[in-house]
Amino acid sequence: MAVRQVLRMGDRRLLERAKPIEKFDTPELHALLADMQDTMADLDGAGLAAPQIGVGLQVVIFGIEQNPRYPDADAVPQTVLINPTLTALAPEMEDGWEGCLSVPGMRGVVPRFAKLRYQGFDQYGNPIDRSVDGFHARVVQHECDHLIGVLYPMRIRDFSSFGFTEELFPDEDITDD
Ligand code: NI
Repeated sequence: MAVRQVLRMGDRRLLERAKPIEKFDTPELHALLADMQDTMADLDGAGLAAPQIGVGLQVVIFGIEQNPRYPDADAVPQTVLINPTLTALAPEMEDGWEGCLSVPGMRGVVPRFAKLRYQGFDQYGNPIDRSVDGFHARVVQHECDHLIGVLYPMRIRDFSSFGFTEELFPDEDITDD
């Protein structure tokens, strides 16, 4: 298994719609997930979508315990989510800071649905059905956006809250991405 190169914004492959997984629990799917886990861990990310390593399939992973990139964020369980569908549970949107391994060195404030239900499958084909809020809901929306070719800067409404991490947060020791 291997740490894979993460595509950066500007690469046209990040704008494509990913295809659903048709067979679960295959060697190919497990190999893809192992590479995604290795890559996310290496870069200290909160999540990663298959299109970010150039694989146009509806597979995302996410989860944080205490991540130095998100010191104030609630913990999110380590999750493999395949063929997801998202349903907003309320119309309210919430602003919050986001970063992305495909947009290294930058942060922006992005509006997201505050309460969300997500459904899909794990790598074995077991169904997942969760209703979440807060940072968990934000991470899911961010990762699943990658499956429809949307990067977080495309969701920003106020570009005065978008910039380089080192300039926005000069007192924080954020060394990666
Ligand atoms: Ni991202």
